[in-house]
Amino acid sequence: MNRLAARGLTLSYGNRVVCRDLTLDLPDGAVTAVIGPNGCGKSTLLKALGRVLTPTSGQVLLDGRPAASYKTKEAARVVAMLPQTPVVPEQITVRDLVGRGRFPYHSLLRQWSPDDDEAVQSAMERAGVADLATRPVAELSGGQRQRVWLAMVVAQRTPVLLLDEPTTYLDVAHQYEVLDLCRDLRDLGITVVAVLHDLNQAARYADHLVVMNSGDVIAQGAPGDVLSADLVQEVFELASTVIPDPETGTPMVVPRARATARSVSGRSDAPSAATPAASPSTR
Ligand SMILES: Nc1ncnc2c1ncn2[C@@H]1O[C@H](COP(=O)(O)OP(=O)(O)OP(=O)(O)O)[C@@H](O)[C@H]1O
Ligand SMILES: [Mg+2]
Repeated sequence: MNRLAARGLTLSYGNRVVCRDLTLDLPDGAVTAVIGPNGCGKSTLLKALGRVLTPTSGQVLLDGRPAASYKTKEAARVVAMLPQTPVVPEQITVRDLVGRGRFPYHSLLRQWSPDDDEAVQSAMERAGVADLATRPVAELSGGQRQRVWLAMVVAQRTPVLLLDEPTTYLDVAHQYEVLDLCRDLRDLGITVVAVLHDLNQAARYADHLVVMNSGDVIAQGAPGDVLSADLVQEVFELASTVIPDPETGTPMVVPRARATARSVSGRSDAPSAATPAASPSTR
């Protein structure tokens, strides 16, 4: 039995059913990437796995036990989740926000301890935000903030991490840093499930791909077995060629170019000489 699994999940918001009868086993100690078009239900699935959304029917299993049977703090010692759009509490510093990741370990009898300081410091270092420790989170850039949230879930020190678009807002180097961090955590035995939009990053970094479309899991397995031009066409309605990534050999999706004539003359937003952004002399 896997550490994290879903059995016959139906997930809804009011009357709107997003996923129906979804069964899934997430491999232990691996990076799983969930991919699929906007609105297909990736965040909804992650929220259910993270106990943020209660299933209409079916179950999430944590270590073979229904997730719903866990007490809040007990579950929070097993699963940490980075939501797609977390809300920053007012007036909080980076160190204090990351410190909130330690709440599952506290009780009336067990208050803040040196272990917590160590967990917070090491999580901030892993996420590359230690130098921001005393800054108010509200004053950070989108990418800095994203890494602070990541530090918070890392500080939670759970065996399962759910990350909804952890690379959004990040510049390209920081995207790869975060993906490397996912791998490092996996190498420590942590089960990482991340929603990613970049198919090539997903193929490079995931051990297991889960492909969703319209609320269903339509394919899963090793990226090399799953990611094909046919799949990209079916799921994203994008014509592409899939070639081996020259660095890693994993599948690399190269979108087909549109006919040149159309891309030049048919676009109403094509830069013109009058568009300042098009001028190379501005830098
Ligand atoms: N709070 C909500 N109330 C009602 N409907 C919702 C809610 N959140 C999401 N939905 C709907 O559920 C469906 C799945 O949304 P979800 O957020 O899971 O998609 P997603 O795959 O994560 O998309 P994206 O790539 O844009 O993040 C969409 O049709 C969306 O409109
Ligand atoms: Mg989403």
